[in-house]
Amino acid sequence: MPRNILVTNALPYANGDIHLGHLVGYIQADIWVRFQRMRGNTVHYVCADDTHGTPVMLRAEKEGVAPEQLIARVHGEHLRDFTDFGVAFDNYHSTHSEENRWYAEDIYTKLQAARLIDTRSIEQYYDPVKEMFLPDRFIKGECPKCGAADQYGDNCEVCGAAYAPTELKNPYSAVSGAAPVLRNSDHYFFRLSDEKAVSFLREWTQGANADGVRRLPPEAANKMKEWLGEPGENKLSDWDISRDAPYFGFEIPGAPGKYFYVWLDAPIGYFASFRNLVGKRGDIDLAAFTEAGPAAAADTELVHFIGKDILYFHALFWPAMLEFAGYRTPTQLCVNGFLTVDGAKMSKSRGTFITARSYTERKLDPEWLRYYFAAKSNGTMEDVDLSLDDMIAKVNSDLVGKFVNIASRCAGFIGKRFDGKLGASDRDVTREYESAFAQATIAGAYEERDYSRALREIMRLADVANQFVNERKPWELAKQDGKDAELHAVCSTALTLFRDLALYLKPVLPALAANVEGFLAIAPLAWTNVWEPLPAGHTINPYKHLMTRIERKQIDALLEANKDSLAPTEVKAASKAAASQQRHGEQQAHVARKEAEQADAGAPTIAIDEFTRIDLRIARIVAAEHVEGADKLIRLSLDIGETENGQTKPRQVFAGIKSAYDPATLVGRLTVMVANLAPRKMKFGLSEGMVLAASDSSGEVPGIFILSPDSGATPGMRVK
Ligand code: MSP
Ligand code: ZN
Repeated sequence: MPRNILVTNALPYANGDIHLGHLVGYIQADIWVRFQRMRGNTVHYVCADDTHGTPVMLRAEKEGVAPEQLIARVHGEHLRDFTDFGVAFDNYHSTHSEENRWYAEDIYTKLQAARLIDTRSIEQYYDPVKEMFLPDRFIKGECPKCGAADQYGDNCEVCGAAYAPTELKNPYSAVSGAAPVLRNSDHYFFRLSDEKAVSFLREWTQGANADGVRRLPPEAANKMKEWLGEPGENKLSDWDISRDAPYFGFEIPGAPGKYFYVWLDAPIGYFASFRNLVGKRGDIDLAAFTEAGPAAAADTELVHFIGKDILYFHALFWPAMLEFAGYRTPTQLCVNGFLTVDGAKMSKSRGTFITARSYTERKLDPEWLRYYFAAKSNGTMEDVDLSLDDMIAKVNSDLVGKFVNIASRCAGFIGKRFDGKLGASDRDVTREYESAFAQATIAGAYEERDYSRALREIMRLADVANQFVNERKPWELAKQDGKDAELHAVCSTALTLFRDLALYLKPVLPALAANVEGFLAIAPLAWTNVWEPLPAGHTINPYKHLMTRIERKQIDALLEANKDSLAPTEVKAASKAAASQQRHGEQQAHVARKEAEQADAGAPTIAIDEFTRIDLRIARIVAAEHVEGADKLIRLSLDIGETENGQTKPRQVFAGIKSAYDPATLVGRLTVMVANLAPRKMKFGLSEGMVLAASDSSGEVPGIFILSPDSGATPGMRVK
């Protein structure tokens, strides 16, 4: 019985480029989908952009466009990148769509009817200038522990401390610079701590689907067990699903000014994209895939491919939402680990934060990456390491040296000596290749997403084929008289083996396989219709070069293109995460970390006009003094050439440099200040700008160092 599977990939945020880290999970899913289809199963494969939330709203504002314009542009870019890498969705939709609004409202209303929605007033920082509540990531200030300046509202990148935004000293809004104020507002909560939700999740996360396959990978199921606690013990917190205006998202029905939090409507986007596809196609039964009930659950599967960082949302919030709104729940979560490059986290300063676009722009073959990622994917949540030298070696030796080599050594003779017509293949040789055993081994590995095992077996078969060619030496047969028949048989047999290998590799290398189909002049390779050797008398096309070798210099150029010399040195993510966990508990820490990442995404470079908006001026320090009651501040009077009634009118600036400077030594010095920073009211008075100073964010080199211009500069000169 063919299977009916709805496969989804996590929806990428609409405020960042697709990079090689993303591609791990998308390529893994795409391989699985292609494999299932080659087996004769029906698969609908959908994705969409995840468009809502504060970061998208602010980014659009910064670019001076409407959020709808921003997400439309990014939608095109994302789809282009996926297509370039052979990730072939049946539909690539958007969470900012009518289908998604419909489902979000429907699910919310049903959860409300199930008495699982609560309203509570919560106190939060509010930006009085921008008139908006601030997510933690958009509040900055001095670390309450070590005093480091400009730290985020959730944790300190210098000392690793985690805290609430209200604990920051001298907090300011990262959006407007204004001092935030605490305000109350009503929020809507999904009551995940309700006994019925908890007991459902206990069963769901540990259970198996109708085919006996666990819904969650074992590592993930264990993690959930910990998070859920023992029966009787209730460790889940309710989930805040609303945000106040201004917000880019969907307004909550019956709650003017309140919006669904981005993570509420994001997974619903899977259904929205599918529904949109159903609308376009007209031959798919929507309800069979989305509605609850034994019929749907038994006949159709819902399989989500996600990265391990978003497991929390998909293993708890999402199934609970579906269950209590009366929808079908997922059949399986396939979870991928994170990408490291040469053993380390992707890094902008090392150039290993490689965008999909930069890869294709340099004309590197996307199938090299597909092959390498497949070779490193074993179906578990382990991280995947892209070792660049290993990738070069593997692709060159496996694909060019072993696979393509078979055809390139044999095809020419068929063309030149036999008019492009094949002879009979030697079944004794091809039998092992086409054995039920080989098929089952490889298919089993693909099914379990252990592509590394599948490729090992395929390459073992490639070795057998090469050995056959090496032993029978067609190039020597070609020189001998009376060996035509043998030459014909050897080359034809080798091409049948080559065809079989192409079939086995097709889920991983669809473009290469299509070229092979063209060259061999055969119908699209499918798992169900092969296992007969290529027939004698069949005419093939002239052999054309199928794949080139990777050169190290191409990879070096790629790294160079992605190098961002302005990128901050990497923060110690592990200690950050650990500290955050201590403070918030694992549940919130997970959500917070993911949020922080979204806020950070897409801020790597600025346009020159953004830089020139900063008015930097040479300033003379005309006075400097300690501030009573402030441990870190020095009050500076700065002459930047401004006057009032013919008199110099210095600016007052509070600088957090007390630990490094004796005020007396500063007087008379020239430095650089930001002259157009919004004035900030502090406890000690108004601060009318900022002086520039350097410090080592890793904390290894202690101290703070203010800048000085070369001699000759005078107060008021513009720095640019
Ligand atoms: N928008 C959310 C997902 C919503 S799903 C309803 C999101 N977006 S993301 O752009 O940050 O990530 C998209 C997918 O890529 C996720 O599955 C994520 O785990 C994965 N990855 C992002 N960076 C990755 C690596 N460096 N390595 C491996 N996978 C990575 O999360
Ligand atoms: Zn600190």
